[in-house]
Parts: sequence; C-alpha cells; structure tokens
Amino acid sequence: MNPLDDPMADPFEIAKQAASEIAERTGVPKHDIALTLGSGWGKAADLIGETVATIPAQEITGFSKPALEGHVGTLRSVRLHDGKHALVIGARTHYYEGHGVRRVVHSVRTAAATGATVMILTNGAGGIRETWTPGTPVLISDHINLTANSPLEGATFVDLTDLYSSRLRAIAREADASLDEGVYVQFRGPNYETPAEVQMAKIIGGHIVGMSTALEAIAARQSRMEVLGLSLITNLAAGIQKTPLSHEEVLKAGHDAEPVIGALLANIVGRI
Ligand code: HPA
Repeated sequence: MNPLDDPMADPFEIAKQAASEIAERTGVPKHDIALTLGSGWGKAADLIGETVATIPAQEITGFSKPALEGHVGTLRSVRLHDGKHALVIGARTHYYEGHGVRRVVHSVRTAAATGATVMILTNGAGGIRETWTPGTPVLISDHINLTANSPLEGATFVDLTDLYSSRLRAIAREADASLDEGVYVQFRGPNYETPAEVQMAKIIGGHIVGMSTALEAIAARQSRMEVLGLSLITNLAAGIQKTPLSHEEVLKAGHDAEPVIGALLANIVGRI
C-alpha cells in the first residue's frame, strides 16, 4: 500500500522520508532545483548537466508506478554545469488516475524536502491561440484550476499571487525573447475537453488547456518554492483544431519538438 493513502499519515513526513532515500541513493545530500518533465521535455535532462544517478521512482517511498506509456518513471540527480544539483522528475502522477491529490503532488513535496527552492513544471498541453502551432513552447503566466480540488488540506490559506514567478519568466525570456505566455487551465481529464469547454476556458481567460500542472504549482508554492511553468503546445485545443485529438498526435508532437525545447529548457536552467 502507498503510505500516502493512509488518511492519518502526514504527507510532509512521507516527503521527508522520500527525500532522505533520494539523498542516500544519489549520494547528493541537497538538491537546489527540481524539474518535472512532461510530454516532449525529456531531452532536457541530458542537456542540463551530468547525470549522477537514476532511480526508478516507484522504489522511493510514496511514488506511484507510471500509468502511461510515454511517461518515464525515473528520478534523476543531475550535476549542473555550475556545480548545483537538479532533481529531474520523470514520474508524474496525474489527478485523473484517481489516486488522490496527495499522490499527485508527492513529487513536488519531495523536491522541496530535498532542498530545492526552484520548481520547474513542464507539460504537453492544448493551445487555444490559433497561432500556437504544435511544437510551440509557452510560458505559463497564471492558472485556472478547474479540478475542484486542492493539494492544501485544512485552513491553509496560501497566497497565489505571482505563483508563476515573474522573475523566472524574465529569465526564460532572456533565453528566448520570442516566448509567448498564457494562462493554463487545468481540467480533470483524462478525456480531452469538448469544444464547448475549450470555448469556456477561452472566455474565462485561459490560453492553454491541460491535465497536470495547476495542482502541482499550488503545492510547490505551499512549500515555498519559486515556480516556473512551461507548456509545450502539442495540439490546438478541441474545436480550435478541426480534426479529432489523439494521444498519438500528442506524443508525436512532443517527440518532434524534443530537441528544440530540450535545448531551450537547458538554456533557461543555465541562467537560474
Ligand atoms: N487538452 C488537455 N490536455 C492535453 C491536451 C489538450 O488538448 N493536449 C495535451 N494534453
């Protein structure tokens, strides 16, 4: 049984336990920065520095088995070119898997417990702006959380102003001045949105639709990390694109964009 499924357990204690296992397995006592690599972003792990250790995530307390082909379930410790250490999380538990929000944000809480003060969250997502052709990377400027859930438990009133750090967004723009930004709307999934839902997302101020990042960003902020969010537009959102959406199309767009956005992310990490 996953210890996070015990409602009496303290998820932060479990994250601390996970972090101490990561320190022991990697020989790296403290990580400075953490990256969650979603669809298309995996190449960055090879470009940011030298991999010190790779751990199958499910061997670490609280982590779940990957649910999906195309999602790699590893944790990597990477020594950056400037000597800092990055924890690269290639094991995302999605809210739609139905294991509860504690499991969804465990990797983020573990990253904080390893010492990371910067959390880079990446994903593959649908684009609402028609100019964002598949393969376009977009900075997340803010989010709208339509999951009707939160990783925060009890009366935990966390401020989310500037959740997606304007300082880190400015650094990302130093790496690529042409980067657009937009508001990420998280739906529960796993179905893609209906065209009407996409129109709603647009009307309420959204530009990107996805199924992962908002809940993770909230948890990162609760753990006092600075957040940078990046979406790879893998497809235009339902109804904006005239053809039906498919997971294969999303994976292919991610695969095709991988070298370019991997290099972009490595460039950004080098400036943080
Ligand atoms: N919607 C939600 N999630 C996604 C999409 C989308 O269009 N594309 C990739 N992930």
